[in-house]
Amino acid sequence: MNTAEIKKEITGLIDAANDLASLEEVRITALGKKGKITGLMKTLGGMEPDARKAAGQELNVLKTEISGLIETQGKMLKRQELDQRLENEKLDVTLSPRPEAQGKIHPISQTMEELITIFGDMGFSLAEGPDIEDDYHNFTALNFPPGHPAREMHDTFYLPDDPEETGEAAKKVLRTHTSSVQIRAMEHQKPPVKMICMGRTYRSDYDITHTPMFHQCEGLMIDKNTHMGHLKGCLMDFVRKYFEIDDLPVQFRPSFFPFTEPSAEMDIGCSRKDGGLKIGSGDSWLEILGCGMVHPNVIKNFGLDPDEYQGFAFGMGIERIAMLKYGIPDLRTFFEGDTRWLDHYGFDPLDRPNRAY
Ligand code: PHE
Repeated sequence: MNTAEIKKEITGLIDAANDLASLEEVRITALGKKGKITGLMKTLGGMEPDARKAAGQELNVLKTEISGLIETQGKMLKRQELDQRLENEKLDVTLSPRPEAQGKIHPISQTMEELITIFGDMGFSLAEGPDIEDDYHNFTALNFPPGHPAREMHDTFYLPDDPEETGEAAKKVLRTHTSSVQIRAMEHQKPPVKMICMGRTYRSDYDITHTPMFHQCEGLMIDKNTHMGHLKGCLMDFVRKYFEIDDLPVQFRPSFFPFTEPSAEMDIGCSRKDGGLKIGSGDSWLEILGCGMVHPNVIKNFGLDPDEYQGFAFGMGIERIAMLKYGIPDLRTFFEGDTRWLDHYGFDPLDRPNRAY
């Protein structure tokens, strides 16, 4: 057994490998199941104890050396590949724009602008809250007590514990809904309050109708005698303006959310023919949002007396209402960053929805 000879041969092959695929081939020839060094290892069993010990040590040294050389060559090749890509894909951001390549407004941004316009006209202001929330604002303050089964409906992304902050309430999550902003907004406002908020929300879920990040729009109105009639009127006006159909039928179905009582889901009328969907009067219904009267426990968590104040809240998925209005069939395409998709479904940047609906 001449390890020096084998080392020379394999080192030559490693040096000659000029891309990662051929380097992998060399690795298999030397260290793979049927590789040269592996083959020699197998002969150790048939040797005399003393000879086996010496040969075994020699082979182990060889194996470590060869692995090291392959690793170094691999790193070098990876770096080379990256340098090449950086060189080939270089982008001169100081170049003047090409007039034929006009950008488009993403349907999510467009829909958000439309929501702001419609609810703005009704007197709602715009609130904001963080994407990284604590357990208190995302769950507990919204009447999901610790251990409540409704928490499990949310497929929550939990963040690692922060050693500086302890306790259940400080646990960090990626907000699973924009309802957390109801609590945030009420921390520094007194009724009457009429606010909407919108932004990213996160749930660990992925299929044709779910992505781990999506957008929601939340609404909240709190005053002394706000009632279910206000909720219905407000949401009916909203969907009719948004879908631009004056007599769009709606229905409210009983539902459950921990933070509203009673809770409802709102459907809009539609017809389904030959696999097509048309929003408007018809014999079918399409679920569009969740809503309800704010639960007395949540009113208390706003720092208000539920015997004095009441109100309504609603929440909807922005992708969903954009898909319905603009005929976009697959949710996942919103986040693929494909400029052909944006060319097709995007909006002219100068055509902002600032008109009164
Ligand atoms: N937060 C609820 C959801 O994500 C929606 C909702 C908001 C329901 C406000 C009622 C009131 O499904």
